[in-house]
Amino acid sequence: MPFSFFHLLFCITVIFSEVHAVHEQHFQHASKSESKSNVTLFVFGDSYVDTGNWRKSVGGSWKEPYGITFPGKPSGRFSDGRVLTDYIASYLGTITPTAYQWRKGVKRSNLKYGMNFAYGGTGVLDTPVNQPNMTTQIDYFQRLIREKVYKKQDLDNSVAIVSVAGNDYAAYLARNADDDLRKLPAFTKTIMKQLGINLERIQGLGVKRIAVTLIEPMGCVPVQAASLSYTNCSEVLNIGSKLHNQMLQQALKNLNDKTNSTLFVTLDLYDAFISALNKLTKRASASSGMKNPLKPCCDGKEKGKYYCGSVDESGAKQYSICENPNLSLFWDTVHPSQNARLGQMHYWVRVSASDFSGTIPQPRSGHTAVPIGKSKIVVFGGLLDKKFLNDIAVYDIVIWVFSLLFHSLFLLGLFFGIW
Ligand SMILES: *[C@@H]1O[C@H](CO)[C@@H](O)[C@H](O)[C@H]1NC(C)=O
Ligand SMILES: *[C@@H]1O[C@H](CO)[C@@H](O)[C@H](O)[C@H]1NC(C)=O
Ligand SMILES: *[C@@H]1O[C@H](CO)[C@@H](O)[C@H](O)[C@H]1NC(C)=O
Ligand SMILES: *[C@@H]1O[C@H](CO)[C@@H](O)[C@H](O)[C@H]1NC(C)=O
Ligand SMILES: *[C@@H]1O[C@H](CO)[C@@H](O)[C@H](O)[C@H]1NC(C)=O
Repeated sequence: MPFSFFHLLFCITVIFSEVHAVHEQHFQHASKSESKSNVTLFVFGDSYVDTGNWRKSVGGSWKEPYGITFPGKPSGRFSDGRVLTDYIASYLGTITPTAYQWRKGVKRSNLKYGMNFAYGGTGVLDTPVNQPNMTTQIDYFQRLIREKVYKKQDLDNSVAIVSVAGNDYAAYLARNADDDLRKLPAFTKTIMKQLGINLERIQGLGVKRIAVTLIEPMGCVPVQAASLSYTNCSEVLNIGSKLHNQMLQQALKNLNDKTNSTLFVTLDLYDAFISALNKLTKRASASSGMKNPLKPCCDGKEKGKYYCGSVDESGAKQYSICENPNLSLFWDTVHPSQNARLGQMHYWVRVSASDFSGTIPQPRSGHTAVPIGKSKIVVFGGLLDKKFLNDIAVYDIVIWVFSLLFHSLFLLGLFFGIW
């Protein structure tokens, strides 16, 4: 299957069961299983995509209770389980690429799947963590190309994922606590300028498709929502996210126009979070068993002193974990949970059939999906077990309901040869 990021958002809602199956297999047998596609995946950015680049001795991602849902122990991911990289690799039919830190410890043949250069806590600009910023991450990539670890044919079928800027804003907000945020747009411009340079560099190194995340609604992240006692997202910070995302989309459009291509695409984390929040908020108000989705599952016992994973001098745990991380949108105060059961946060890269109602069409590949208006997606065509499908499904993205349209009409049309 050729990779197609244009259709990522759309396809994925339809081929959910396939994705799920492929994914489980790939993630669990990463070292053994062969990739189905020949996509080489390169990853740059921060903790939303880091799969183990922090050194074990210093990284919170290597401490309990991180990894508690999957694989059951810390795996260098800033989550209770999988992160975006794992889902996207699975979607592309490949396996999670090796974390840069571990490149010497894995079989050389594994490097062909690509490499993950992302470090949790980092940004486009320097942040308080002493880890490689995006520029340095690209330097690492460039060096591997120079050393012929990656050659032209690897790059011919390559995809890059870039998840970045959340930490730039976090660092800015920490530095300018009393700022009225009127200066934020100027900071966004500074980020955008450097980010543009970085993205062009990745392109210049030969990557064929580059997916950049639109950042999450910063005001909804628990560390911010805490100041509103988790009753609401900080609207002003969400406006900051929206501004960033608008400027980013414009910048990517300019880059695409320059090359007359669609080399640059976006992955909309903003919408993913907001939709997930809305859905969970509705569920929380409908059932008393559901928790406030703005509250993290794992948090330090004393605000500002302890964090998820903190232990005191005597080694005693100074954090608490919710009963079931699967029911939380946020794992800790910054990071989404794997949220496997509900598939909320990652619903557009990994969803389960139970998230939908109506007449759900069969899983398929190679189909067409067209958005109509603001709330509908029409899905038609595609293949299942090498057979063409001829139904037409309409999916309502607001109420998550599928319906079949014109099905019999279409078949009749085929029968009489009028299509
Ligand atoms: C992947 O590459 C191998 C060897 O070059 C080739 O035989 C195979 O057909 C490719 N697979 C896909 C899905 O392109
Ligand atoms: C990224 O880090 C390098 C190495 O520390 C530093 O020289 C460079 O100025 C940083 N780049 C940005 C844009 O902050
Ligand atoms: C939460 O924010 C929304 C949108 O800004 C606002 O309409 C609502 O009144 C707020 N709710 C509370 C409880 O502050
Ligand atoms: C851009 O691509 C389209 C379609 O491939 C082509 O028709 C058009 O001439 C191209 N424009 C430029 C400026 O290269
Ligand atoms: C969370 O979901 C995963 C994957 O579906 C499952 O293996 C695990 O048992 C669930 N955890 C709990 C506490 O329900």
